[in-house]
Amino acid sequence: MIRCDRTAAWAALKGHFEAHGRDFDLREAFARDPARFATLSFEAPGVFADLSKNLLDAATIHFLIDMARECGLEAQRDAMFAGEAINTTEDRAVLHTALRAPRGQGPHSAEVHAVLDAMLSWVEAVRDTAVSGIRHVVNIGIGGSDLGPQMMVPALDAYVHPGLQFHFVSNVDGHDISAVLRRLKPAETLFIVASKTFTTQETMANAQLARAWFEAEGGTDIARHFVATTTNVEAAAAFGITTTFGFWDWVGGRFSLWSAIGLPIAAAIGADHFRELLAGAHAMDRHFVEAPLAANLPVLLGLLDVWYRNFHGATSRSVAPYHQGLRRLPAYLQQLEMESNGKRVDRAGEVLPYATSPVVWGEPGTNGQHAYFQMLHQGTDLIPVEFILVRRPTFGSAGLDADLLSRLERQQTLLLANGLAQSQALMCGKTAEQALADKPLPTSTQADAATLSRHRSFPGNRPSTTLLLDRLTPHSLGALIALYEHRVFTSGGLWGINSFDQWGVELGKVLCRDLLPRLAAGGATADLDASTAGLIARLRA
Ligand code: F6P
Repeated sequence: MIRCDRTAAWAALKGHFEAHGRDFDLREAFARDPARFATLSFEAPGVFADLSKNLLDAATIHFLIDMARECGLEAQRDAMFAGEAINTTEDRAVLHTALRAPRGQGPHSAEVHAVLDAMLSWVEAVRDTAVSGIRHVVNIGIGGSDLGPQMMVPALDAYVHPGLQFHFVSNVDGHDISAVLRRLKPAETLFIVASKTFTTQETMANAQLARAWFEAEGGTDIARHFVATTTNVEAAAAFGITTTFGFWDWVGGRFSLWSAIGLPIAAAIGADHFRELLAGAHAMDRHFVEAPLAANLPVLLGLLDVWYRNFHGATSRSVAPYHQGLRRLPAYLQQLEMESNGKRVDRAGEVLPYATSPVVWGEPGTNGQHAYFQMLHQGTDLIPVEFILVRRPTFGSAGLDADLLSRLERQQTLLLANGLAQSQALMCGKTAEQALADKPLPTSTQADAATLSRHRSFPGNRPSTTLLLDRLTPHSLGALIALYEHRVFTSGGLWGINSFDQWGVELGKVLCRDLLPRLAAGGATADLDASTAGLIARLRA
């Protein structure tokens, strides 16, 4: 395995960037090549991708793919799927793909399907609300034990059991859990304590608080109202939880929604739909393994990420899902990408001479348009934008009359037009001359027409990718998330980093344990830095 900067293709890309990349103009590229959209759009299971509005040409793709080959991307991918211990700092395999492999295929199939069968039959009993009496499901977990289910349950709202409400408690800030508990009754509530390690401070504090609340409010039968999803079955038992669905150390937290951590998703959408979710992800796994690199969507997206980060110098990527159900997708992707690829040393521990993970951020469209899109259009930074459009809506139609339904359909068209218009505006821009020709001219007593036209012009040539789903279903959502996982694998693989550990979260945890007693009255602060000591003094006052 060679690191990207040590490949011949890296040097070729540097030259290509200077000659054709830095001044690449999207508008000219479309004018030159009427087939650009056809050549640069790609089909993967459940997802159509238009890459044509990106700052690249055939030569860019050619050199990027050469670089992937030189970095041994295919061998790295095969090692992951084969269960080699590619997480070298923790000596672990990385096998979330095994969680969605059909029965009898993939490593650990017997254990995976035993847990899957058990959890799915258990959720069906919970979903029989007339018998179970459950009306509220509260997932207590953080990071990978929270963000996946928290992202997916609203995304699949059209499939969610109408008699169940889902709540997600993650923050150690008591405002989080107290706002949820206020609305609950013990007899109607199921708590899922979700933690891979079952040691995470926030989750343990919230789980203990939930149990104290349950008992104080007269709840009985903890065994029926608390369930755990964890690799640490002994710790869950010590907590007093008798129903536990396990998983394994070869499932990373941020890749765990396909495991028992997906229990709230399964409870929301039911066993059959949960299996469809897994099948969608598996279809994307097959695409990642089988499609040639030049038509392999996760590979192409990962390569584009390297192109923008290391050659164009983009420090962030904005994700704009044009579907309100995907409102938590940017937060989910922040953990997936930034915890995976926010690394500064290579696998051998050598400090990297180039940048890795960009900042990933965003909000659903159209809300973002009325907030930060100003910066995307006229700010000083190059920020590639990723539009996610869903062609057909899945409004729960029950109880809505025909007139309301057709209004909703019109709003869907309005939504899609907005998404398309934004990517078009980013690319096309508007010259000062065009702005000057606008009628009627806006008036200002302080700026003449020429000055105003400069404020009202757009440079354009700002890149975007559009991912298009036909409908947001368990299958297409599973495929979309697996697409992102493999894209992160691709860029991490080229950067030569370990995308599967997260040592960067440890120091703060240790220091928090040290500071906790110091916050109490009389706690020692003299040996601390002056800022921390000063803040503690103010907090104690
Ligand atoms: O602190 C980071 C982290 O370890 C994440 O990687 C993980 O998803 C999260 O905490 C929660 O961990 P656990 O599932 O063990 O509670």
